[in-house]
Amino acid sequence: MGPQRLPATQDPVAPRDSGPLTITVDGAEVTGQVGQTVAGLLLGAGRVSWRTSRTGRPRGVFCGIGVCFDCLVTINDIPDVRACQRRATEGDVVSTEPPVREASA
Ligand code: FES
Repeated sequence: MGPQRLPATQDPVAPRDSGPLTITVDGAEVTGQVGQTVAGLLLGAGRVSWRTSRTGRPRGVFCGIGVCFDCLVTINDIPDVRACQRRATEGDVVSTEPPVREASA
């Protein structure tokens, strides 16, 4: 056996049974699979954008690798979470509304 061939039972990154999970997005339940990102669940639910730029243009997943910040959401009251980088967890509460920011003095 060559170095590229590893039995599936010994592969540390082999896909495993994931199982379903449910999160709440803007008050509506969205279902997906354990291991998916929040962005993956949103895309799977048919949402291709969930915020807008300063000029009002739609934003969702652009880079998908945590570089562009187009996919920001609020998760469990934590603002500015990159949905493409955050794995969904059962019961997460996601808001796609922009967080309310306090004016600085
Ligand atoms: S899509 Fe670019 S940071 Fe998430």
